[in-house]
Amino acid sequence: MSDPSQSEQNSEGERPQTIFDVVGADGVTRLVAGFYGRVRTDDVLAPMYPDADFAGAEKRLRDFLVYRFGGPATYIEERGQPRLRGRHAPFAVDQHARDRWMGLMDAALSEAAFEPAVSDAIHTFLGDVATFLINRPS
Ligand code: HEM
Repeated sequence: MSDPSQSEQNSEGERPQTIFDVVGADGVTRLVAGFYGRVRTDDVLAPMYPDADFAGAEKRLRDFLVYRFGGPATYIEERGQPRLRGRHAPFAVDQHARDRWMGLMDAALSEAAFEPAVSDAIHTFLGDVATFLINRPS
């Protein structure tokens, strides 16, 4: 699986395949819906959501992942540069919150039943970003 941000051509003159090429908008929508279905009742994560705007948060994460996995840049048009660390600064993201976030995402990933190479690439990407977003000691 190539780096999803990569769009230049390879030596055969073909664009490398992105995660978005494989799962499509429907796949990302299913994944994020499965994730937020779990967040809404989670004792650690649910209380962190401002005004319980889960539908808005679900759209923002979906649009971001569509963009980051190689699809249309709706997220950038509507929200500008992601600045994810800055945008998460108001929320207490410690190791425990990070691990819970990944736990719910891994459950949603299994449910989405993508091919293993794609699931692995998504899991690695999300896990790395989640670790990068930790902003409080445990
Ligand atoms: C590590 C644990 C994480 C926690 C506890 C967390 C929590 C939150 C919360 C509370 C919000 C505000 C909801 C809203 O948009 O109204 C948010 C927004 C967002 N999160 Fe996370 N998040 C985590 C990890 C991640 C990861 C790994 C990604 C991406 C790979 C991500 C992407 C986003 C995006 C794109 C937004 C919307 C930003 C915006 O445009 O305002 N988050 N997150």
